[in-house]
Amino acid sequence: MNAVTTLNRAAERTSAGDIEVIRVEANLGAEVRGLDLTGPITDEVADLLRNLLWEHQVLFFRDTGIDDEKQAEIGRVFGPPVADSIQKRRGAKDEDIIPFNTGPYANGYYGTPWHADATYLQTPYLVSILRSVIAPELGGDTAYSSGISAYESLPEDVKQKIAGLTAIHRPNGKAYKLIEDKEELEDYLSEYSGTEHPVVITHPFNGKKVLYVNEGFAQEIVGLPEEEGKELLNYLTKQFYRPENIVRFKWQPGSLAIWDNRAVQHYGIADYGNAQRQLVRVVAKGDRPTR
Ligand code: SIN
Repeated sequence: MNAVTTLNRAAERTSAGDIEVIRVEANLGAEVRGLDLTGPITDEVADLLRNLLWEHQVLFFRDTGIDDEKQAEIGRVFGPPVADSIQKRRGAKDEDIIPFNTGPYANGYYGTPWHADATYLQTPYLVSILRSVIAPELGGDTAYSSGISAYESLPEDVKQKIAGLTAIHRPNGKAYKLIEDKEELEDYLSEYSGTEHPVVITHPFNGKKVLYVNEGFAQEIVGLPEEEGKELLNYLTKQFYRPENIVRFKWQPGSLAIWDNRAVQHYGIADYGNAQRQLVRVVAKGDRPTR
């Protein structure tokens, strides 16, 4: 199987083959065309998916025609499945697939802040995969922002300042939105009371430095006075708003996005009123992020 990569804004083409990989933004994102995901996920396909993901950080596919089972199989290319921490306490098994309704308006998942999935865990997911089942005609895109380009564009003095720092991540914002029962909320928050991760991690497969604090879960910088820590976190998390670091994906039923949850953060855009929006998520377990 050969892949053709069309570089964004470059006239260059490499090799020939039946799969087209179209880089969609300068710093991240590629659309993959011509790969039949309904077919067997052979070792060759698995290698291709991993290699493309570590290179482009987020991959987009259209009209996949795949079902939950096939999506789970694609997830296992990257690691074993993991249940969401709230669902798990309610009895869900790691391999359960629970569709994720994000509309109509006022649902807890109607819009999400910039975050990488589950960084409040010691071992946040390595890869997350969303598939659209129902998509609004307009709105409800998901935006992805690169922690690699966010890190690379930081001034040198900031890079030096943050090199040895760690931050505490907690799921409080998500928990308050999704858990109504007071007792369950308290139990959950005491179980997930804070996990420390380096502010800058090294990507496990491409060796690049990644800015690894996110607005959704990173709450304090260890060892800095509260105000100074907040100011620094605010500055760092704002790097993910920069258009240079972002690619935005418009969902259609059957679309699939696979993202490198070490390298990118994502943001669910809350601009679709009462339209229905349903996604199916599968995630793959990761190791502990390291410096
Ligand atoms: C999420 O934040 O995990 C979901 C993103 C979305 O709804 O677009």
